[in-house]
Amino acid sequence: MITTPDGTVDVNGRSGPLGGPADQQRLRSLRETASVVLVGAGTVRAESYRAPSRSDLRIAVVTQSCNLDFSSGLFTSGAGLIVTTTTAPTVPVDSIRAGSTVVDLPAIISQLPAGIVHVEGGPQLNAAMLEADVVDAINLTVSPHLSGYRAASLSAPPHALRQFSLVDFRREDDFVFVRYERNRNAQ
Ligand SMILES: NC(=O)c1ccc[n+]([C@@H]2O[C@H](COP(=O)([O-])OP(=O)(O)OC[C@H]3O[C@@H](n4cnc5c(N)ncnc54)[C@H](OP(=O)(O)O)[C@@H]3O)[C@@H](O)[C@H]2O)c1
Repeated sequence: MITTPDGTVDVNGRSGPLGGPADQQRLRSLRETASVVLVGAGTVRAESYRAPSRSDLRIAVVTQSCNLDFSSGLFTSGAGLIVTTTTAPTVPVDSIRAGSTVVDLPAIISQLPAGIVHVEGGPQLNAAMLEADVVDAINLTVSPHLSGYRAASLSAPPHALRQFSLVDFRREDDFVFVRYERNRNAQ
């Protein structure tokens, strides 16, 4: 996730204006290490997700409504798959289902390809992941931009307090890249 110093994560519904070349490179390198990207449907719709450049990378889209554009390149390429409940509508692409009323995220994660699950937001999905306590690490970019636009913060609805430890930070151009890892001893 990228955030402004005052906690805004988008400008008029898009995160792109907050970023820059250093941030885009950071995102590419994080995707390189991932076996799968997990992302909320709101982000896929807002950011018009496309097929990833890595042909073996799956993009797992978390949704309850299953209201997505299945004619988009994300899905026609075979990269996109749906993560939802057992009671959600049928979809014309691969799906993983767990939980009847809400998506059972721990059960879903255990069915994803082994390796690093790289979560790309957005705020609603982040909150559900934190509530389920399935976040091991957070890679955060602090943007030098201040937009004055405030729609969402890193994790939207309330969730339990989770303690993380700072394990890495570095500066590039005017961006700061921070990595936190879950400190399960503290909370
Ligand atoms: N700054 C950044 O790095 C960054 C990163 C990502 C997104 N964003 C911004 O965040 C905004 C989108 O926010 P958002 O909160 O709507 O994002 P989101 O979490 O990606 O999307 C919310 C939607 O995803 C589905 N969803 C999320 N968690 C779910 C769960 N646990 N179970 C079932 N469905 C779940 C639901 O889809 P259905 O409605 O289909 O049921 C829900 O309406 C955009 O403006 C985007 O630009 C910023």
